[in-house]
Amino acid sequence: MTLNEVLRFVDDVVFDKTGKHLDSLQEAILRATWQGEKYSKVAQQYHCTKFHVGNVASNLWQLISKELNEKIHKSNFRAAMERYQVSNFSNVFNLGGNNCLKGNINLCTDNTHSPETKQKLPTTQTTNENNTPLPKLDLRDAPDIKKTFYDRSTELTTLKTWIVKHRCRLITVSGISGIGKSTIIRHLIPEIESNFHHIIWRTLRTSPPLNVTLKSLIEIISNVTEINLSNNTDAQLSLLIEKLRDMRCLIILDDLQQIFSSGELIGNYKSGYENYGNLFKIIGELPHNSCFILNSWEPPLEIFNFTDNDSAVCLFQLTGLTEKVAREMLKNQGLSDEEKWQ
Ligand SMILES: Nc1ncnc2c1ncn2[C@@H]1O[C@H](COP(=O)(O)OP(=O)(O)OP(=O)(O)O)[C@@H](O)[C@H]1O
Ligand SMILES: [Mg+2]
Repeated sequence: MTLNEVLRFVDDVVFDKTGKHLDSLQEAILRATWQGEKYSKVAQQYHCTKFHVGNVASNLWQLISKELNEKIHKSNFRAAMERYQVSNFSNVFNLGGNNCLKGNINLCTDNTHSPETKQKLPTTQTTNENNTPLPKLDLRDAPDIKKTFYDRSTELTTLKTWIVKHRCRLITVSGISGIGKSTIIRHLIPEIESNFHHIIWRTLRTSPPLNVTLKSLIEIISNVTEINLSNNTDAQLSLLIEKLRDMRCLIILDDLQQIFSSGELIGNYKSGYENYGNLFKIIGELPHNSCFILNSWEPPLEIFNFTDNDSAVCLFQLTGLTEKVAREMLKNQGLSDEEKWQ
């Protein structure tokens, strides 16, 4: 069972019992436990006390214990999940055609699989598919994954290809407010996470100055809380680039429009925020192993300075969902009079 499958399973359990999805702290606790890390590390990452992390974790273990009818705690969580998977596989084989697994762990849902195909599936999986360590996630600024996600598979495939195959360094996702920029990128993360050492999501909603953003990124990638950084932005940029070369990081800067002036031609920075342009220029121009995704109502001007065929820098214009999906949404909302939906 992969970590993603475990997270999906626990998310379903928590949603069933509380009506809420996992929040980012709960997810971090599960990841840390799965990877054998300490609560203190999660507390440090989330700027809260170890005691608070322990309380949140204890509630999680109680919910999972109820679902599995077995006392679950930090030290037996992983073993219990792996045992649970094996026993579900046995059920699949015993039941013959009916392979609908409890808890929505989508390990083998295709009824047409022959028994041989089923038996080839792994029963336990301690690392991800590529046998690489799982990434460190800092998604405290990211939206939660909601249960309903209407089809964005074409867009997700394009983004995945750019990031994983073309190794784009800078991608701007632009589109009007509410079109689904944050949502699609949040859904992209589980699909590409095995390619990265760090995944960090930051919102620029409160318009932080560049040096605040740089400091926060450098601290997280370096795994230190109070780093003694030079106040010189160029020095900070050089240090960040160095880190982005050493490790493959995915950095999402959401709500970028907050640092642009409104009522002017697109991509013009508010006074005092022009130096963000240097960051984007450097990220796009210099060789490194990481990828920045910028979510914005409008793209930064720097993006247009890169040539059309430079696949290291890409612009993705997110548009609305298809008519088919719109119909599905109306149907899910219980609307009648289908002939009027158009
Ligand atoms: N594919 C989708 N399926 C279901 N709900 C979606 C989808 N895309 C977006 N939504 C929902 O629409 C709302 C707006 O989406 P989102 O916040 O991602 O937009 P945005 O483009 O990031 O907006 P803004 O620019 O204002 O930040 C959210 O409530 C989100 O859950
Ligand atoms: Mg958004």
